[in-house]
Amino acid sequence: MIFSHHHHHHPLCFLHVVLFILIISPLTSTAQTHTNISLGSSLSTPTTKTTPSWTSPSGDFAFGFRPLPNDTTLFILAIYVNNIPEKTIVWSANGDNPAQTGSKVTLTREGRLNLTNPSGQEIWASHEGGGAVTHAAMLDNGNFVLATANSSNNAWESFNQPTDTILPSQELGLGSALLARITETNYSSGRFTLRVQTDGNLVLYYIDQITKNIYGAYWASNTVGSGVKLVFDVSGSVYFALKNNTAFNVTKSGVSAKDYYQRATLDPDGVFRQYIYPKTNKSTLNNAWSLGAGGSVASDICTASLFRSGSGVCGFNSYCKPETNQNMACVCPKGYSFLDENLKYKGCKPDFTAQSCDVNEGQMYQLEEMLDVDWPLADYEHYDPMDEDQCRSLCLEDCFCAVAIFRQGSCWKKKLPLSNGREQIGVGRALIKVSIGNFTSTPSLLTESNRIHKNQQALIIIVSVLLGSSTFLNIFLILAILMLLLCLRNKNTMKSRQESSMLEVNLRSFTYKELEEATDKFKEELGRGAFGTVYKGILNSSPAIQVAVKKLDRMEEEVGVGKIQNKSCNL
Ligand SMILES: *[C@@H]1O[C@H](CO)[C@@H](O)[C@H](O)[C@H]1NC(C)=O
Ligand SMILES: *[C@@H]1O[C@H](CO)[C@@H](O)[C@H](O)[C@H]1NC(C)=O
Ligand SMILES: *[C@@H]1O[C@H](CO)[C@@H](O)[C@H](O)[C@H]1NC(C)=O
Ligand SMILES: *[C@@H]1O[C@H](CO)[C@@H](O)[C@H](O)[C@H]1NC(C)=O
Ligand SMILES: *[C@@H]1O[C@H](CO)[C@@H](O)[C@H](O)[C@H]1NC(C)=O
Ligand SMILES: *[C@@H]1O[C@H](CO)[C@@H](O)[C@H](O)[C@H]1NC(C)=O
Ligand SMILES: *[C@@H]1O[C@H](CO)[C@@H](O)[C@H](O)[C@H]1NC(C)=O
Ligand SMILES: *[C@@H]1O[C@H](CO)[C@@H](O)[C@H](O)[C@H]1NC(C)=O
Ligand SMILES: *[C@@H]1O[C@H](CO)[C@@H](O)[C@H](O)[C@H]1NC(C)=O
Repeated sequence: MIFSHHHHHHPLCFLHVVLFILIISPLTSTAQTHTNISLGSSLSTPTTKTTPSWTSPSGDFAFGFRPLPNDTTLFILAIYVNNIPEKTIVWSANGDNPAQTGSKVTLTREGRLNLTNPSGQEIWASHEGGGAVTHAAMLDNGNFVLATANSSNNAWESFNQPTDTILPSQELGLGSALLARITETNYSSGRFTLRVQTDGNLVLYYIDQITKNIYGAYWASNTVGSGVKLVFDVSGSVYFALKNNTAFNVTKSGVSAKDYYQRATLDPDGVFRQYIYPKTNKSTLNNAWSLGAGGSVASDICTASLFRSGSGVCGFNSYCKPETNQNMACVCPKGYSFLDENLKYKGCKPDFTAQSCDVNEGQMYQLEEMLDVDWPLADYEHYDPMDEDQCRSLCLEDCFCAVAIFRQGSCWKKKLPLSNGREQIGVGRALIKVSIGNFTSTPSLLTESNRIHKNQQALIIIVSVLLGSSTFLNIFLILAILMLLLCLRNKNTMKSRQESSMLEVNLRSFTYKELEEATDKFKEELGRGAFGTVYKGILNSSPAIQVAVKKLDRMEEEVGVGKIQNKSCNL
């Protein structure tokens, strides 16, 4: 029995819903083919039911909001390839400042595009000028224009404000630029730029994130004085037109723009690539963007250049690794991991605590080998000639040495942070210093001090409770204090020549890691008490001092230390 008697009204309700959907759906139809967009029109962010957009007559391109791949409550106002499932974005207005649900873009009466958030504040506007605009149009070549009565004089074109991509029939004049986005899924301004320089040179630069200034070039056409404009022609070639009517060829697809969607994009990894996507064959379901026959520019970015400032192509302590299909990846060396797994360009951090320079900890570290990896600018010491064993032990002993490179009888010591990391044949053997075993570093120290703080609070509470409770407990407390005083007196009578160094030791505070090392990971048990276990340890100072370490149950971070002879005095 599926329908029980008191659910009889439901089919009627359902009918209402169906009617309602039937009535509203024509009004909110998604793929309206707008040719001319009149002043005063607007688009709002998509909902589950509608995806409002202004499409080109062929439907190939659309202007409208696209959700961010990783956060579908944020939207980019974009031009995208409309007839493919990927809806690939080829231009974006507000990559640095995504719009919330409920934002809208208006073609104002003054003839400007104005993107406003749900409370009506401006997020982005096409331009400041105004007047003269008669309508807007999404063209079949992917250009969105604010047109005037003079068809050869548009007030504004997306083709003149490129982001990271150019399309067939688009031209970039001297003084314009492409700017890569920061990651595949984040449209914020990124770390690489392609400049069509006013001096006639076409140059790829690495830029710093704070000032947006350029750090240095890693590719150039070397056409100073003769370059005129960067052209993506409809036959599928990207070239730099020169004054003498020849061209500097950049990339080409080898296929016609009639059968394939094409785009050339400065990708987040700094490589300029030309991509193709078959237009029609609906039978081939797994269509995708692929590299054109004339591929890419600067796919050798890993090794193309050295940057004196900044981290280089990949983040600090990482290295750039060429991969198949003219791709590259930023990778962490052994013993290191990404600061942010989603933002790999931010670099890598060691997974262990740095070697102390105060005590000789050489034996706590080992060298991981990696062939053909180098950080060419991180040297601080060079030994030549030298054999590998000597190179290894010199790095292990030296607290400054993070990596040693050994190549043909030469040894280089490198310090942190490592920059310009690259994988390159013939650069030798990288010996990466990592600690033996897994010690967590800074983050756990923070939580450790936090916990100690909490434990102190706990102690205060316990004392308060004791003070405010029964006489029996108070007597117990007084006895404990008396025992402590007795112990301290004994200690004072045991004078030794090491007293000053003991004082130092007693005053020093120890990290959990240091104590773990001192006790060889709490190996040798000396005794067990009600609150914890006491372990034998050796402090790595000179002269080495034997200690007893008491590890409190369930409060591992709070540890008491004393000289081994006075073990009974530990609190
Ligand atoms: C679009 O506007 C232009 C200029 O106002 C006009 O010439 C053209 O016919 C219009 N196209 C359509 C399809 O309305
Ligand atoms: C965009 O719209 C906002 C709110 O209506 C307005 O304050 C702002 O001046 C407009 N900007 C342009 C460039 O029209
Ligand atoms: C249209 O604009 C072009 C380019 O600015 C200009 O050369 C031409 O004289 C204009 N035509 C008219 C009729 O205003
Ligand atoms: C995109 O990257 C920028 C810069 O790194 C960052 O500030 C922003 O929060 C990121 N946006 C998203 C949606 O992840
Ligand atoms: C055109 O100019 C480029 C760059 O200055 C030069 O390399 C090339 O040889 C020139 N070609 C001709 C045919 O003059
Ligand atoms: C550039 O490409 C065009 C057409 O693909 C070709 O005719 C020309 O020779 C190429 N120029 C150079 C310098 O390779
Ligand atoms: C589409 O498929 C047909 C037959 O499979 C093939 O001949 C044609 O080259 C394909 N076109 C494209 C653009 O891939
Ligand atoms: C975004 O999503 C992609 C794929 O869904 C994932 O690989 C990536 O790690 C995500 N990035 C962030 C910043 O969450
Ligand atoms: C370090 O930890 C990782 C995973 O947490 C483990 O796979 C690895 O074996 C550990 N290495 C050592 C030396 O303990």
